[in-house]
Amino acid sequence: MKITLSVLKADIGSIGGHITPSKKVLERVEDYISTEGSGALLDYHVAHTGDDIAFLLSHKLGKDSEKIHQLAWDAFKEGTQVAEEQGLYGAGQDLLKDAFSGNVKGMGPAVAEIEFEERPSEPFLFFMADKTEPGAYNLPLYLAFTDPMNTPGLILSPSLGKGFKFRILDVEHTEADKIIELEAPEDLYDIAALLRDNGRFVVDSIYSVNSGEQTVACSTTRLNKIAGKYVGKDDPVALVRVQKNFPATGEVLAPYKIGHFVAGFMRGSHHGPLMPISQEDTISYFDGPPIVSALAFSVSDGKLTEPVDVFDNPFWDDIRKKVSRKAQDIREQGFSGPAMLGYEELEYGGITKRMKKLEDEFVIED
Ligand code: F6R
Ligand code: MG
Ligand code: MG
Repeated sequence: MKITLSVLKADIGSIGGHITPSKKVLERVEDYISTEGSGALLDYHVAHTGDDIAFLLSHKLGKDSEKIHQLAWDAFKEGTQVAEEQGLYGAGQDLLKDAFSGNVKGMGPAVAEIEFEERPSEPFLFFMADKTEPGAYNLPLYLAFTDPMNTPGLILSPSLGKGFKFRILDVEHTEADKIIELEAPEDLYDIAALLRDNGRFVVDSIYSVNSGEQTVACSTTRLNKIAGKYVGKDDPVALVRVQKNFPATGEVLAPYKIGHFVAGFMRGSHHGPLMPISQEDTISYFDGPPIVSALAFSVSDGKLTEPVDVFDNPFWDDIRKKVSRKAQDIREQGFSGPAMLGYEELEYGGITKRMKKLEDEFVIED
């Protein structure tokens, strides 16, 4: 059966700062999705990581379906009402427009969608990250889909050995999607040259060269570019179909052991290491660290199994300790050098005004 998996994600308010949505908000949005979505959806799952709520929706309406996007938008609106009633912080913050206009892209919520013919067994991973940006997935995806040191399947499996096509977006270009298609391993160094710049070039999707099937879809929204000012970090979601023609679940998860430094963290204005966490974990140190969760599912005729929380394993406890140390290491240098982001990426305009004022006070001496 041909189905579409759509993930739509937004921060519509949270308890105690930018920590977590309330149970009441989660109940309201889930109730809305289940009642109003009953005609259109084959199945759904409502998840949250940090202060973001994501709907995983399975249906037959294809990508960019107005019905599906409207459903998610209206559910976020419903949840925002509860967030406002409860005095949650940043209620409705990712809903940048007043009225829905056909597709949530460009309206604030992040979107990742894949349409595919289900394989006899269809396992996939659903990633959510908080206190970071879409480019946070660049390195893990690069390693999982191009590097045999991480993914033995690239040399062991004939189909994986044919490589993968990357579609990479230049997020600086906001008038329309500006995309380049490159294939690994042939274009490996070009892919690396782009993906090193997490703030500008972002993996949009990945396809098997062998079968042409899509394996990865990532959200690429940069809200500040849409709003013309900084309105929050663009905490990204991603879907990755795994096994058989694609890397194995464990090959896709393995790169998260690095705890690589990404943009985000406190006030969306610092570098911090990405910590793989369980669904139950929360935001704490320095409004972070940047976190990523992953849920594994199988799907058949559009029906989802229950999720498996794949970073909830003793192996990752050790990684979390390492990431905590890395977070402390970079935090020891406060605002200095690479600890804080460059001017372009800072979430606040205040420093630009301060620099302007200082610029006027500088004198050029003979
Ligand atoms: C991401 C996140 C942060 C905040 C940032 C600004 O989920 O919560 O990036 O957007 O800390 O916070 P405020 O709006 O409180 O200044
Ligand atoms: Mg937030
Ligand atoms: Mg967030």
